[in-house]
Amino acid sequence: MTLKVCVAGATGWAGSALTRGIHLAEDMELAGAVSRTNKGKTIHEVLGLDGSDLVISESVSKDSLSNCDVMVEYTNLDVAKKNIFTALDAGVHVVVGTSGLSNEDYAEIDKKATDRKLGVLAVGNFALTVVLLQKFSEIAARYIPQWEIIDYAHDDKKDSPSGTARELAYRLSKIRPSELTVPLDQTKGAIEARGTRITGSQVHSVRLPGYTISAEIIFGMPDQKLTIRHDAGSSAQPYVDGALLAIRKVNTFIGVRRGLDQVLDLN
Ligand SMILES: NC(=O)c1ccc[n+]([C@@H]2O[C@H](COP(=O)([O-])OP(=O)(O)OC[C@H]3O[C@@H](n4cnc5c(N)ncnc54)[C@H](OP(=O)(O)O)[C@@H]3O)[C@@H](O)[C@H]2O)c1
Repeated sequence: MTLKVCVAGATGWAGSALTRGIHLAEDMELAGAVSRTNKGKTIHEVLGLDGSDLVISESVSKDSLSNCDVMVEYTNLDVAKKNIFTALDAGVHVVVGTSGLSNEDYAEIDKKATDRKLGVLAVGNFALTVVLLQKFSEIAARYIPQWEIIDYAHDDKKDSPSGTARELAYRLSKIRPSELTVPLDQTKGAIEARGTRITGSQVHSVRLPGYTISAEIIFGMPDQKLTIRHDAGSSAQPYVDGALLAIRKVNTFIGVRRGLDQVLDLN
């Protein structure tokens, strides 16, 4: 069966690499593409994809989703939730690559997806080394009760913490909250220096030129430390294979699942 896919954000840094990947995949067909500034142009004109005369739509709507089985949300936080709801209302499964949606947002999305009997796979980072960082961290958290997460990104990244850091904190919350030797309300001086508490983890975001995307978690025990770290290179290629896998799997369950390992066999 050929999966018909719409990419919201098809001309962006991550979305254009994925759109090329979908175009090359034998089991998929690019059936929709969204970008405001390229509306009315064909995907061939904008991305140079041979034989694709698909016309780009300005926004996610019933029309831009007609004929689609799956939508990939790869735009930005301002419109992501609205786009996801539009897709679910149109009976389309959703893969979410856009970062920054909160746990509360996902609770609302889960309700709608479950009502509509559709799947939503939200993956803060599609790269395999991030999936492994998550898995290894979950194992470490079972044995080590104290950790902090640091997320590094380029200076113009608007959302913080990153989707990767949020997702990691959320997953570790299912194991336990990280313990604090000095409770935050007993901290003297600038409490912000301790980062922000997200679902039981202290999270710190660094935004500086020179970084692409990195995520680090430090587990500390008396007289020993464990650091697990992922560093992305500068291309969007690491995200393509994971996103293609997510597209293939999102119609196999109902409701929201978070993290690519939810559809991988890592045991
Ligand atoms: N999960 C992962 O592995 C992963 C990997 C990389 C990036 N990301 C996340 O994915 C998101 C996109 O990142 P990016 O670097 O690709 O951004 P980008 O280069 O700015 O691309 C954004 C794309 O969305 C379109 N867009 C933006 N606002 C829109 C709107 N209101 N309506 C319709 N189209 C809109 C843009 O086209 P127009 O401006 O022409 O509308 C463009 O095609 C970010 O949240 C980023 O953090 C996640």
